[in-house]
Amino acid sequence: EKGTYAHFMLKEIDEQPFVIRNIIQKYQDENDDIKLDQEVRNALNEADRLYIIAAGTSYHAGLVGKELMEKVAGKPVEVHIASEFMYNMPLLSDNPLFIFISQSGETADCRGVLVNVKEQGYKSLTITNVPGSTLSREADFTLHTYAGPEIAVASTKAYTAQMAVLSILAMDGARATGSSEEFNAIHELSIAANAMETLCDQKNIMEQIARDYLFDAQSCFFIGRAFDYHVVLEGALKLKEISYIQAEGFAGGELKHGTIALIEDGTPVVALSTQEHVDANIRGNVQEVAARGANTCVISTEDTQKEGDEVVLPKVHNNLTPLASVVPMQLISYYAALHRGCDVDKPRNLAKSVTVE
Ligand code: M6R
Repeated sequence: EKGTYAHFMLKEIDEQPFVIRNIIQKYQDENDDIKLDQEVRNALNEADRLYIIAAGTSYHAGLVGKELMEKVAGKPVEVHIASEFMYNMPLLSDNPLFIFISQSGETADCRGVLVNVKEQGYKSLTITNVPGSTLSREADFTLHTYAGPEIAVASTKAYTAQMAVLSILAMDGARATGSSEEFNAIHELSIAANAMETLCDQKNIMEQIARDYLFDAQSCFFIGRAFDYHVVLEGALKLKEISYIQAEGFAGGELKHGTIALIEDGTPVVALSTQEHVDANIRGNVQEVAARGANTCVISTEDTQKEGDEVVLPKVHNNLTPLASVVPMQLISYYAALHRGCDVDKPRNLAKSVTVE
C-alpha cells in the first residue's frame, strides 16, 4: 500500500534507511560479527574469481560490488550484463563462482546464464529480494536483500539493498584474505542509513533542482569518475526510464573523446564528486562543459572543494558513498518525471520483471 504517498517510487526511496538498518540486523550475529551461512562463505572464499551477472540497475549495483570486493577483500571480480554474457562468454578462471544479482529473481537473461553455467558444473549464488524466485531456487545459494516488496518499476531500495549486502560480503571476504583494508561495514552502514534519511528529508531541494535543470530539458548528462562513474550510470537510467529524458552517464575523462560535442547552451550536466583523489579532475570536466554553455549541477561531499551552490552529501565511509549519492539522483528523477506528467510508477514500455529474453 502507498499510504499517504502519491507514488510507490517515492515511498520506496524513503524506505531506504530502514531497509539498510534491517539488513544490518539480518546480517549481524550476537557478537556484532557478520552472520553468513558457512557454505556461502566457503563458496566465496574458495573461488579464485567472482563473476557477477545482472541486468539494468542490478548490474549497476554489481559494478559497485566489484570495486568493494576487489578493494576491501582483494578478490578479483568481473561484472557482466547477463544478455551479453549469454552469447559472448569470456574466458573463465579455474574456479569461478557466479553471483546473480536480481531484485525479482526472475530476469530471463540471468536465468539463461544460470542454466548454462550450471550445466558446466559451476557454483552459483543469487542475491535477490525474492528468496522463493526462480534464480533463488535454481542457484546453489541465496542471499536475501530484505528490501521488502518493490512495486515501482524504477528500482530504488532494491539497488541500495544490493550494495549494502555486497559491502557486507566484502568485509567478510577481507577477514578471510587477511586484507588490510579495514572496513567495519556493519557500523558504516548504520551511518550511511542516517545520511540517506537526511537526504530523504531534503526533497524540496531536489525538487528545486529538477525544476531548474530538467522540467524542459531534452537531454541530460551525468558525469563521474571512479566509484562515482558507476553511480551516475544508475542516475541516468533512473531519469531516462521514468521521465523519458534522453540521459546518459559518462566517465568524466571520456567527455573530450566525443561526448562534449553534444553540449549546447543550457544542456543540463549533473556531476558527482565524492572521491577526493579525482575531485580536481571532475571539477575540471565541470568547467569544460560550463565553458560550452552547460547548466551544471554538482553533488559532492564535505571533503571536496566547493564552487558555489552544491548538493552536499552527509559524511559516510568512502566505500559506501553510492548509498548516499544515489538518493539525490533518485529524487531529482522522481520530481522531473512527476512535473512532466509521466506515469512515475509504471513508465511506458517497461515491466517490473523481465521474464522474456
Ligand atoms: O529484477 P532484476 O533486478 O533482475 O531486474 C533487472 C532490471 O530489469 C531492472 O533493474 C531494471 O533495469 C529497472 N527497471 C531499473 O530501474
